[in-house]
Amino acid sequence: MKKPDRLNSLGTDFDIDDPVFAENFEDALEHLVAHCPVAHSNRGPGYHAFNRYEDVRRCAQNWRAFSSADGWMLDPPEGNIHILPEDSDPPYHTNWRRVLNPFFTAQAVDELEQHARDYAGELVDKFAGRGECEYVADFAAQLPGLILFKHILPVPVDDLPTLFKDIDIYSFGPIVDRAPAFGRVYVYLQGFLEARRDAQPKGDLVDVILAGVERAGEPCPWDDKVHIALDVVFGGLATTTHAMSGAIYELARQPEIRRGLLGNEAHMHTAVEETVRMHAPVVAVGRTDRSARRTTRTRRSHCAELRRRLTRPGRVLATAEFRCRTRRSRSHSVRCRSASLHW
Ligand code: HEM
Repeated sequence: MKKPDRLNSLGTDFDIDDPVFAENFEDALEHLVAHCPVAHSNRGPGYHAFNRYEDVRRCAQNWRAFSSADGWMLDPPEGNIHILPEDSDPPYHTNWRRVLNPFFTAQAVDELEQHARDYAGELVDKFAGRGECEYVADFAAQLPGLILFKHILPVPVDDLPTLFKDIDIYSFGPIVDRAPAFGRVYVYLQGFLEARRDAQPKGDLVDVILAGVERAGEPCPWDDKVHIALDVVFGGLATTTHAMSGAIYELARQPEIRRGLLGNEAHMHTAVEETVRMHAPVVAVGRTDRSARRTTRTRRSHCAELRRRLTRPGRVLATAEFRCRTRRSRSHSVRCRSASLHW
């Protein structure tokens, strides 16, 4: 994948981290969906990319065959830190989801709406007088952190600038700088959880993380709690920044849709859903194929046939058509459109 016009080589020379892929994202994905059910990559440990909806769906639903326990990252950088519960399988994964879920229900999120509106207003006030803004930096990258760090995982306000800076480097900075920034946030969260462990409980998500869950019949280790906090932080920020940026990009390009929405707020929900599909913030999650030896004995569906061709257990990647049909798609190696707005 050296040049934009070399889409044909994507099937045999795919690289999720290649900037060319990010820059030609739509074309590359269209090409993969249309011409390449399973792409192959020699990068890092090597992996296959499933590009058809049915294959990706089956892969995502069968954790025994396609495990998350070895991590979601396809070609992890040196010193990569895993995140939980993402990098785990049931029953441990289920134990964590059971205690985390109440903080992410529709009702729990509804209760944050007024805060979100207030922060959005404050951010707009800061640049409204200028008559222009850099939408991602001035707005979309700020809003999720304000909600997360003030209401879901509340950290001391003074820590926010440093935290935001490292999160920004991890999410949008040069690839070589990302792992160290991730490490700094990990160290920060470790100290933060230690301080909260010694303080009065507040009945919030942090207390639930500190209480922990069982792993193989024993209380889970301390480190796992830090990895949980890390997942909540990184899961929640660049994803939402990306989704909001995609939305504003479409509205800027298609004023008729913007006018339509202003005239009928009932369509807003659909617009948000469609934006997340069109500009999926998460485009490919890695799974480790533990099924290769078994698939020859299974009924030969299209998916099984594809898996049969994977002669040894290895990494698989979910991408392309998946993003159009469900919310579960991936690339925490985040791409983000930068958009300038003028008025
Ligand atoms: C538009 C916004 C978002 C998108 C598109 C998105 C997408 C995803 C996807 C596709 C996964 C599954 C990854 C996998 O299969 O391995 C995931 C997992 C996760 N996300 Fe999000 N996410 C978003 C927002 C958030 C927010 C706001 C938070 C937290 C505040 C969050 C926290 C997490 C966590 C903790 C996991 C791991 C869950 C598990 O393993 O069961 N995400 N997200």
